[in-house]
Amino acid sequence: MNKTKIISFPDLQKAAKRQLKNIPDIREANKLASKRLKEYLAGKSYCLFTSGCQANVRDSEIIKAYLDNLNMKQIEDVNTASLILFNTCAIRENAETKIYGELGHLKPLALNDKDKIIGICGCMAQEEKPITYIKEKFPFVRLIFGTHNIDDIYSLLDEVIFNDERLIDVPSIEGSVVENYPSTRFEKYKAFVNIMYGCDNFCTYCIVPYTRGRQRSRSIESVVNEVISLKEQGYKEVTLLGQNVNAYGVDLKDENITFAKLLEEVAKTGIERVRFTTSHPAYFTLDVFDVMAKYPNIMKALHLPLQSGSDNILLRMNRHYTNEKYLYLVDELRKRIPDIYLTTDIIVGFPNETDEDFEKTIELCNKVKFDNAFTFIYSKRDGTPAAKMQDKISDKTKSERFSILQQTIDKYATINAQNMVNKTVEVLFDGVSKRDKNMISGYDNYFHLVHVKANPSIIGKILKVKIVSSHTYSLIGEICD
Ligand code: 5AD
Ligand code: SF4
Repeated sequence: MNKTKIISFPDLQKAAKRQLKNIPDIREANKLASKRLKEYLAGKSYCLFTSGCQANVRDSEIIKAYLDNLNMKQIEDVNTASLILFNTCAIRENAETKIYGELGHLKPLALNDKDKIIGICGCMAQEEKPITYIKEKFPFVRLIFGTHNIDDIYSLLDEVIFNDERLIDVPSIEGSVVENYPSTRFEKYKAFVNIMYGCDNFCTYCIVPYTRGRQRSRSIESVVNEVISLKEQGYKEVTLLGQNVNAYGVDLKDENITFAKLLEEVAKTGIERVRFTTSHPAYFTLDVFDVMAKYPNIMKALHLPLQSGSDNILLRMNRHYTNEKYLYLVDELRKRIPDIYLTTDIIVGFPNETDEDFEKTIELCNKVKFDNAFTFIYSKRDGTPAAKMQDKISDKTKSERFSILQQTIDKYATINAQNMVNKTVEVLFDGVSKRDKNMISGYDNYFHLVHVKANPSIIGKILKVKIVSSHTYSLIGEICD
């Protein structure tokens, strides 16, 4: 068996520490690979599996660039891959259980081929319990690194391969702003652009502030330059990414650097479409709505996580807003952009959520009439404050609430989608529909998924489409002349 070398082991307590008085460090990404590593890996293949949010997808694009730059080839077949890497999510327990399942399947393959490198990175790697478990139960996992040291991938692979080691290197740190990563993009016309990393909110249910470090904003200049370069390469849409985009710039301690300002500067680049995610109601300032209303290239969509409609639960979630504040924001937004496409995230079954708390969530959904929502049953995350809260609510009650909530969301999604029929939208066509090869799909200037019967030559174009029929979560249209 390989020897296990632990350079650093995940530590959630340490990860929670923050020096908010200082502005974040900025550093250049490491890009140097040893000659022997280049020679050894050139021509070999790898599998890269990604779970979780857009931040993880963006990290995987960076990891792919590192591996492609060694002349490795990405494939789907785990049997023939020399390297199998899981970029993991930690947000709910089921994301982690799935990874254990995948590792279990790979066991015979790993035991058969001692040169195969199986690795874990991403948010789950930042948690001590899962990594202790993987270290013990899956000794064939030879490389574990975290979200802060993606750019050490070459030196880590070098050690694993040439020192025949199992390596764990997961720094639990505040993190830096890393610039000039090598990069590929999984999509041809749409790109994710990180505007900030980490999170300082500490919602009591959430693991992210521990797995991704303190909030660190990139400069407006770096973000704008990346968008200009994407535009020059032919990208039509950017999505600005951050765990809490409304707090963008707070860490830079310069009151002129705000999300509204950044959004405006990005819109001014003239890229055809701008989106952003995720917003936080507590930090939202109305100037963002003004910028959204002013620039036609900012899409008419907002994802505004609610989490709960009950003030009592919001307080215990450490969300720093009330039901009333949420409704006020929606009101102000609809005053400026009446047809905004509004989506949200809602958790049911937070510890000791009462029937009254849950009803308040449903009442709020009835008032707002969301176009779509991601709904979740609360999942206990070790190391977070909510994990220590008492919970007397049965799993059965939680499932019942979950299905009532989902029915409510589906109801308004269906009605709102029906209201789109006969309207004209603009769709950026991405590709052939997964369900029907004769249909081409894309997202409109809101965030509806639209399918039209057309020739694949329209892929990559933004075209006017008249909506002819609707489903709950997609629309069917015809291209206008
Ligand atoms: N349990 C259930 N859902 C969660 N989310 C975050 N943490 C948890 C958890 N412990 C949800 C929130 C967040 C979305 C990305 O995931 O709704 O907005
Ligand atoms: Fe993204 Fe959060 Fe999952 Fe990490 S834990 S991948 S930040 S959703």
